[in-house]
Amino acid sequence: MDGNGRWATERGLPRSEGHIAGAKVFRKIVDYSHDIGIEVVTFYAFSTENWKRPPSEVAALMKLFKEYLTEADETKYDRRERGYILRIIGDTGRIPKELQKLVDRTQLDATQENTTTINIALNYGGRQEILHSVKLIAERVQKGELKPSKITEDDISAGLYTAGMPDPDLIIRPSGELRLSNFLTWQSAYSELYFANVLWPDFTTDDLDAAIMDYAKRDRRFGGV
Ligand code: IPE
Ligand code: MG
Repeated sequence: MDGNGRWATERGLPRSEGHIAGAKVFRKIVDYSHDIGIEVVTFYAFSTENWKRPPSEVAALMKLFKEYLTEADETKYDRRERGYILRIIGDTGRIPKELQKLVDRTQLDATQENTTTINIALNYGGRQEILHSVKLIAERVQKGELKPSKITEDDISAGLYTAGMPDPDLIIRPSGELRLSNFLTWQSAYSELYFANVLWPDFTTDDLDAAIMDYAKRDRRFGGV
């Protein structure tokens, strides 16, 4: 979800207003993703690098996360009934304690098939995630549970926050930037990429449809022919 700051600046508003507008769009796209039957959708909300922003902007973002997580906690059973569950991925040990508690409260086990999983990447970094997995593997090696020569790609995947979830088929980046910025670094090896020239607060369900239609035309060979 990129371009909130530019959207606000273009309107002579503080950047925090862009994040507020972006959070509204996020809610819309969450619901639409569920309506059209997307199995797993991951939103990049806050990266491990975003702490470099001015404290007032970080605080504005944390306030929005608190509002969303409070709402998610209050509606969690109803949401699960309707077939979607929320997962927070990232290094949540380093977010404010009050948010950590809310994150824990919002996490429910899925109870039915065909559930849409909504991942929110919060204090997420792809390299940091790989490092986290490597440390888990190193501990198993140290305990003598695993031989270095027997480490597999699946062992690395199993230690990621997305363990058990499929790799993304499609990654959409709005705002016109042409990079992944540490998003799903391991998982994106064979993902199709789509760059939308629209700032996130202007992103609509039509933009998501356009990305999916474009994806549908791609020929995925995974290194084969
Ligand atoms: C939102 O967009 C990304 C978040 C960290 C929530 P930006 O804040 O990066 O907006 P731009 O790129 O400055 O326009
Ligand atoms: Mg940005």
